[in-house]
Amino acid sequence: MPASGTFGYGTEYGELLDVQRLGAIVTKGVTRRPWDGNTQPRIWETAAGVLNSVGLENIGVEAVVRHKAPLWATWDVPVIVNIAGHSIEEYAEVAAMLDTVPGVAGVELNISCPNVSRGGLEFGTSPDSASRVTAAVRATTGLPLIVKLSPNVTDVASIATAVVSAGADAVCLINTLRGMAVDIETRTSRLGTPSGGLSGPAIKPVALYMVHAVAHTVDVPVIGCGGISTAEDALEFIMAGATAVQVGTATFTNARSMLEIVDGIASFMERHGVADIGELRGVL
Ligand SMILES: Cc1cc2nc3c(=O)[nH]c(=O)nc-3n(C[C@H](O)[C@H](O)[C@H](O)COP(=O)(O)O)c2cc1C
Repeated sequence: MPASGTFGYGTEYGELLDVQRLGAIVTKGVTRRPWDGNTQPRIWETAAGVLNSVGLENIGVEAVVRHKAPLWATWDVPVIVNIAGHSIEEYAEVAAMLDTVPGVAGVELNISCPNVSRGGLEFGTSPDSASRVTAAVRATTGLPLIVKLSPNVTDVASIATAVVSAGADAVCLINTLRGMAVDIETRTSRLGTPSGGLSGPAIKPVALYMVHAVAHTVDVPVIGCGGISTAEDALEFIMAGATAVQVGTATFTNARSMLEIVDGIASFMERHGVADIGELRGVL
């Protein structure tokens, strides 16, 4: 599935790939009211990835329900809405407004965004706050609930344990790693903000390590994300314990990479006589 924030609302890529072939679609982070995001520039390419400071620009949950969900309801592919907020109440309100909306198959809680000034990352950095925001959202919705974890912590497994105890049906990791880039001529940040979030191939080993650690700690499905560009990358995550994977930055350089990954996994399985992907999960 696409990683949140790299595939719009799922409706923008229709001419480039058959979105129905994906396992699911994950939307850009959605908040209670529309957000403008941060000042430009918001993207800086690094040696092996991208720094972004988009900052959760989105149309707000009401517009999502009114203008996006009706189209999703006509698709076979499930659409998971990624949600964010400044407060626990805001997260819960957004989740409640998505509950029972035709076309919305699940919610993914972003408690891990490094690009907002309040909330976001703060909720994901302590087991206590991560657990409180998860429980508040769990109380408002019967939809499948994925909690997306931050790598910007000391012990990701303890955060995973906390959100699973609070009612998460699955966890997804990792979000971006905090990073910076400096323009030495102007002596300022390359981004409109002092720092941003690093994604892409550079973060894959970190993501893989954390997915492996969490998959050995919790007993809910783990969705692996971070630097996946090829079928081989995706298979590494599955062998490390991921049940599914998300692809973000790779779509920026090759819009069809997700479908190439789907096909590449199938041909790997055929070559190795693997009938069910479950035979590969967690084999490491
Ligand atoms: C431009 C951009 C915007 C993003 N926006 C969101 C977002 O709104 N919510 C979220 O949970 N993650 C967001 N992310 C993080 C990605 O979903 C993903 O966790 C991260 O980029 C690592 O995966 P990748 O290396 O495959 O890109 C964003 C990433 C990028 C590059």
